[in-house]
Amino acid sequence: MKITIFGTGYVGLVTGTCLADVGHDVMCMDVDTDKIARLKEGEIPIYEPGLESMVKANVATGRLRFTTDPEVAVGFGELQFIAVGTPPDEDGSADLKYVLAVAETIGEYMQEDKVVVDKSTVPVGTADKVLATVQERLDSRGVDLKVEVCSNPEFLKEGAAIEDFTHGARIIVGTDSERVKRLMRECYAPYIRLQEKLMFMDVRAAELTKYAANAMLATKISFMNEIANLAERLGADVEQVRRGIGSDPRIGYHFIYPGCGYGGSCFPKDVQALERTARDIDYDAELLGAVEAVNNRQKQTLFTKLSNAFDGNLKGRTIAVWGLSFKPNTDDMRDAPSRTLMEALWQAGAKVQAYDPEAMRECRRIYGERDDLVLAGDRVQAVKGADALVICTEWKEFRSVDFHWLKEQLAMPVIVDGRNLYDTEAVREAGLMYYAVGRGDSLVV
Ligand code: UDX
Repeated sequence: MKITIFGTGYVGLVTGTCLADVGHDVMCMDVDTDKIARLKEGEIPIYEPGLESMVKANVATGRLRFTTDPEVAVGFGELQFIAVGTPPDEDGSADLKYVLAVAETIGEYMQEDKVVVDKSTVPVGTADKVLATVQERLDSRGVDLKVEVCSNPEFLKEGAAIEDFTHGARIIVGTDSERVKRLMRECYAPYIRLQEKLMFMDVRAAELTKYAANAMLATKISFMNEIANLAERLGADVEQVRRGIGSDPRIGYHFIYPGCGYGGSCFPKDVQALERTARDIDYDAELLGAVEAVNNRQKQTLFTKLSNAFDGNLKGRTIAVWGLSFKPNTDDMRDAPSRTLMEALWQAGAKVQAYDPEAMRECRRIYGERDDLVLAGDRVQAVKGADALVICTEWKEFRSVDFHWLKEQLAMPVIVDGRNLYDTEAVREAGLMYYAVGRGDSLVV
């Protein structure tokens, strides 16, 4: 099957590569000429385990191609996937300018009937707007061609995107057209071992499913962080509570890890966008507002705990930070709790010595060269000469530590752990002051 993908960001590149890998002919299009030139050489712009070798292999077979030419892109695929960004507007709603620009391009160049597939995370009603935009272009060209638009949201986790694409829980397609159903079934056939995995539904239901899934997961996390904050004040250990409630199959163990708040490119943006959609139709989505507010507060707890440990005076202190990415196995620092922490530390006059296995380049890109930021070569260098340590991301290599050694490194033996990595007793036995999330006798903030 011939498939065109607009956008070679995270979602577009993973989708295009995985579809080429199962035998489809894929053309990926992007307006960024530099990016396309590098992709043709097999150089990928993001860090995603397994993706680079897969891109190279499929470029080599000729099944995966890249172009910056819109006419070539539109002419290529019977399915035209839109996988471009939908960054938040100032008011939190998803900005559709890139999505609608692709729709215009398709309308401008199409010479035969096409099916447009919305892969980008877009508000309910966008498929209608995309259809109207393509149709307008067709009308102004005076050509009589048929275009159909369906919604096919992605459920890819960074760091596990290929696995999620190839073995996801479900494939959702929003359409009421039999022709579109047939084409989408053909597109995903290699991935559908279980028929019920492919779910057809109304376009609007598919669009809302994406937001509902992410908002539900974000709600679970904020709920657990709220319980952790209560546990902290009530002298209970939230890790025991987590095991206790997770054992109920109605609750389950997934996404109930308390921490320093969720970040990344999806949860913060999607919760906000859904709230905004609700506001637009005069519905007060109270729960969504609370989920976001709890998360914003949670991101500040690392700094508050640290500041309390230093009696409110961090000026001139050097703080080691382990983990900068919003979660392990990615270099993505979008809305990462580490950023809230570092920015507050700089504001308070402290210096940061940070280490992350993948996100160092990204950190430099965001913050540039500055005197109060040292990017250390490894976790050992990061704690050398530091006053205290804060853990923001649960990378594997932070899980096992010689606490006696750590105590020797830190001028003030304080660890603030935003990911509950350690056994409280073992850390404290080594003489360290350990402030985790909701561990009973943590430093209450
Ligand atoms: C998420 C969704 O999981 C995915 O289905 C969707 O398509 C895009 O958004 P992603 O943002 O890559 O994926 O990461 P995810 O693993 O879901 O983690 C999101 C954030 O939640 C991270 O900051 C993580 O640290 C936090 N989290 C997750 C918790 O704090 N506790 C948990 O129990 C789980």
